[in-house]
Amino acid sequence: MFGHKFKEEQFSFGKNVVQVNNGSFGSVPTTVLQKYKEAIDLDHEFSDRYLLYKLPGTLKEATAQVAEFVNSDVNNIVFTMNATTSVNTVLRSYPFVKGDKIAMFDITYGACANTVKFLSKRQGIEVVTVELKLPLEDDEIVEKFEATLKEEKPKLALFDVIVSMPGIRLPFERLIEVCRKHNVLSLVDGAHAIGILPLDLKKWKPDFFLSNLHKWLYVPKGCSFLYVDPKHHRNIHTFPVSHSYLDDEEVLSEELEKTRLVDRFAFYGTFSYAGIDCIPAALEFRRTVCGGEEKINDYCFKLAKDAANHIAKQWNTSILENAKGTLSTTMSNVEVPVNDQLLQFLKKDKKNIVKLRKTVDPLMLKEHNTLLPSIFHNGKLWVRFSAQIYNELSDYEYASGLFLKLLEENEAHILSL
Ligand SMILES: Cc1ncc(COP(=O)(O)O)c(C=O)c1O
Repeated sequence: MFGHKFKEEQFSFGKNVVQVNNGSFGSVPTTVLQKYKEAIDLDHEFSDRYLLYKLPGTLKEATAQVAEFVNSDVNNIVFTMNATTSVNTVLRSYPFVKGDKIAMFDITYGACANTVKFLSKRQGIEVVTVELKLPLEDDEIVEKFEATLKEEKPKLALFDVIVSMPGIRLPFERLIEVCRKHNVLSLVDGAHAIGILPLDLKKWKPDFFLSNLHKWLYVPKGCSFLYVDPKHHRNIHTFPVSHSYLDDEEVLSEELEKTRLVDRFAFYGTFSYAGIDCIPAALEFRRTVCGGEEKINDYCFKLAKDAANHIAKQWNTSILENAKGTLSTTMSNVEVPVNDQLLQFLKKDKKNIVKLRKTVDPLMLKEHNTLLPSIFHNGKLWVRFSAQIYNELSDYEYASGLFLKLLEENEAHILSL
């Protein structure tokens, strides 16, 4: 059912585009894109009517549907523009005091890691970094994390559900438990989560959890949900702080306390709500056209794995995977065969991968209608495959063959940079 024919029928990619990098910016089915354009038109026909009259109903419906999808109380779910904003909303609201520590892995998404670094400069937060040299077993990741929490006693730990680069899943459910056990706040960055894994916030009870709906759920940009445990509703403020601001200490009636968080986030500065407006349409597409979450995920998980096996075999290299096979999801990572000279160059300075990407990526994008993101991790060069319902094995053959060809053709140039 899925694959290239489905792509032709249901998506609106440009001519000859071979999208194997859904993980970066997501993909939107044509019917949902249509709904997005209608929402933009409706907004611009008469913004006062759209934003003041229609928006409250749109938000209520979208919140209810997302809350049900992730098993949360509706009053704990709000929307922001993207995962970076959701992370900033928490980190820049929480009343940290000088000397508080924040723990994170060294492979934490760069933008969010920078937010922590910013806090360290501005507020005297101490950053505690846990190094991961992958592949590792889940037990090893949990042990390293727990040892750091025991030793450093951070106030909060920031960790990803699925790390961006390399694209690997962390045992985040267990990391949340470890945080609870050691009285550390959990800020779970599930930028890649909704649309890949079934989410159960009532069961996991993190302090904070966020996910991008515009990555894997087929919602147009920019749309992230942020879950905040009720015990933190008073401390979390919109980013930017806006009209709806209420001081942490301000007490509301029992009834208004329940909706304290969602009321604050109902409107906090003018932006386009067209993405949020499309949430019901995206969920409907998943249910009706795709046949539900299991069908989507079965296809994408299998394809990511098959593609990685296939290309690693062709290249005679390895897959970034552990013995239990828990690291790969709808994204997988394959080692690129490189000669010793290039390997030494990449080892010498961690900025050298940027030189490689600045050479290869534009060629792939401009001349060949595809992109394979690459990363240097634990002494090896890897490419990340994203699998979506419109992909087939031949897409990965095309993109990886091209990547290797461009790398070989441009190696002398890369080494000279
Ligand atoms: C783990 C992780 N966190 C945060 C982000 C940032 O997402 P956005 O650009 O939508 O803010 C990404 C994007 O790839 C990500 O992979």
